[in-house]
Amino acid sequence: MNPFDLKGKTVLVTGASSGLGKQTAITASELGARLIITGRDAKRLDETFSALQGEGHMKFIADLTIQADIDKLVNEIPILDGLVHSTGISDLAPARFITKETIVKTFSISFDASVLLTAGILGKKKLAKGNSSIVFISSISTRYPFVGGAMYISAKAALEGYARVLAVELAPRGTRVNCISPAFVRTPMLDDTAENYSQEAVDKIEERQLLGLGDPADVANTIVFYLSDASKWISATNLILGGG
Ligand SMILES: NC(=O)c1ccc[n+]([C@@H]2O[C@H](COP(=O)([O-])OP(=O)(O)OC[C@H]3O[C@@H](n4cnc5c(N)ncnc54)[C@H](OP(=O)(O)O)[C@@H]3O)[C@@H](O)[C@H]2O)c1
Repeated sequence: MNPFDLKGKTVLVTGASSGLGKQTAITASELGARLIITGRDAKRLDETFSALQGEGHMKFIADLTIQADIDKLVNEIPILDGLVHSTGISDLAPARFITKETIVKTFSISFDASVLLTAGILGKKKLAKGNSSIVFISSISTRYPFVGGAMYISAKAALEGYARVLAVELAPRGTRVNCISPAFVRTPMLDDTAENYSQEAVDKIEERQLLGLGDPADVANTIVFYLSDASKWISATNLILGGG
């Protein structure tokens, strides 16, 4: 038996209409998982859905900053073996321009949504007991900050703290909780971030990563390891994917 196999596992991936979530869903399906995917953009979510291997997958349009959408999603999904939180926005602003709205905008999707979705899933007993896995995507920037990233980085740091507590709370029921912290990866989010900086600044970021910019597959391959039985003795970690 291959411990990296995901056959027989049902996995929910949020943010599956783009970037890392999209690639994670596709890679997990290639390893045999049944996928439940969610995002806001129907057309892009359909594209991910069409790229999934195998059968029995489900897709749900949901804005995870809206509690009613979270509740509906939780009610309609089957029992999960894996949960990957891949939503997020990169709304950057120098510290002096931060307002209440800036804080709410970033935290509502980059922190609150993951916490409230997890609470809903646990409350409705939609996560299998014994050998289930939750993965959060934080960022290397909690260790290596960048100008303008105060809210993005603060929300990720909060998520890391939350994940550590969750790992302690859920260990007795056999659920593992881990974070991964990528450096810059080629996704639409990176394009948005790059728009706020000069080409020179972007080149410098790339130079700092010894192995260059990451590809979504580099991140997806790590996430499927955390979803698989190959990582069944690993919890409460935060793995840096920094390209060296
Ligand atoms: N790319 C990087 O370099 C990098 C590095 C470190 C960490 N990360 C983290 O990795 C995660 C994925 O990033 P990515 O690069 O894949 O970004 P992306 O391509 O911009 O994808 C973000 C996803 O989040 C979803 N989303 C945003 N707001 C939402 C909302 N209100 N409700 C539901 N879904 C919502 C988007 O859905 P719709 O498009 O359908 O609205 C999209 O599927 C994020 O948490 C990001 O912070 C990325």
